[in-house]
Amino acid sequence: MRAAFAHSYGAPSVITLATDVPMPIPGPEQLLIRVHSTTVNPADCKQRSGNLKLVMKHSFPLAFGQDFAGIVESAPPTSQFKRGDEVYGCTAPRNGCGAEYVAVYEREVVRKPVTLAWDVAAATPTAACTAYRGVVTVGKATEGMRVLVHGASGGVGSAMVQIARRGCGCTVWGTSGPTNRQYVESIGVVAVLDHSQPLASALATAANTPADIHFDLILDAVGGDDLYAASLPFLAKGGRYVSAVGPVRHGGSDRITVGTLLYSAYTLVPRLLFSRRYLLFLSFDVADLGVAELRELITSRELEVRVDPERFELATFANAHAKCETHHSCGRIVVRVTAEEAAWNSPVLAEVLRGTAPM
Ligand SMILES: NC(=O)c1ccc[n+]([C@@H]2O[C@H](COP(=O)([O-])OP(=O)(O)OC[C@H]3O[C@@H](n4cnc5c(N)ncnc54)[C@H](OP(=O)(O)O)[C@@H]3O)[C@@H](O)[C@H]2O)c1
Repeated sequence: MRAAFAHSYGAPSVITLATDVPMPIPGPEQLLIRVHSTTVNPADCKQRSGNLKLVMKHSFPLAFGQDFAGIVESAPPTSQFKRGDEVYGCTAPRNGCGAEYVAVYEREVVRKPVTLAWDVAAATPTAACTAYRGVVTVGKATEGMRVLVHGASGGVGSAMVQIARRGCGCTVWGTSGPTNRQYVESIGVVAVLDHSQPLASALATAANTPADIHFDLILDAVGGDDLYAASLPFLAKGGRYVSAVGPVRHGGSDRITVGTLLYSAYTLVPRLLFSRRYLLFLSFDVADLGVAELRELITSRELEVRVDPERFELATFANAHAKCETHHSCGRIVVRVTAEEAAWNSPVLAEVLRGTAPM
């Protein structure tokens, strides 16, 4: 089968396409998935470049792709899935979905709603599960809360906006670049702040009253100690600052080193001790895809992860990484793995999208 690999850390050009990779042999508890699409997440780029090697162990050749959408090729007899089922899910942190077939554990897989196009399904797991953890499990968002989302146009940030607004009934403000303003408004952000402006002045310009810029929950999909410091004055006492990234910003080529970890501790600890606000860090769990509340938002398309319009395939995996590293893609970067497009166009999906079949 064909699969994307890297044999060393480095720039996107270290990624090569192998065409003679043996098919994965699923373990007794594993399903074999024929992959339709996978994604490139910022985490993939951080792993490929070696920026995470202090905190994550990798072996070479390095496999890529943590999200997948595809069809069950085989399943253990005890599985709730059977050959031919349309599914999606996530294999992080072991990855391997940048290949025509991947072996996955049952807990990493859920049934793909027929309302979800293949590429959107692949784009969904990491972004939606991280956002759900951030907004609901860790952020404890409830109706009427005032929420600020940093990075509201990105994969994780836009999912946070939609869950906070449509799932929890919060009032949501968000930061983005000027080209994404319209998109961010369309998903429910009532005040869009240009992230190139200093936060305090952007907030002051957008506010009608001082209460407008007093947030119960700040969700951070951008990261950086400076952003945390700039945001703190606008977080209510007892409020939560929930970060998907931590003190090292995602929009740079920052490597996690002993020095950055020590600096983070040095700057964060005093603020944590004296601010009377919570600072919480996220990690996601793909099992959340099966949680009824999140599943309903995805199935009804009230939560829809945007897919970058540029098309990538296994042969152009390196270009997909290069685009992700710009940190200004227009949605999640999806890599189409299958070559046989016609076989994947489900007639059921076409009918549902036309409104002629029940959801
Ligand atoms: N903790 C976890 O479990 C977890 C899980 C998933 C992701 N993450 C991390 O979360 C971060 C975001 O991930 P993602 O998938 O959402 O990335 P993404 O989709 O690649 O994010 C791209 C977005 O970031 C925005 N952006 C770039 N610089 C910005 C800035 N200075 N201020 C505000 N927005 C800025 C861009 O906005 P414009 O184009 O509008 O400028 C773009 O829309 C990454 O660092 C990722 O590694 C963590």
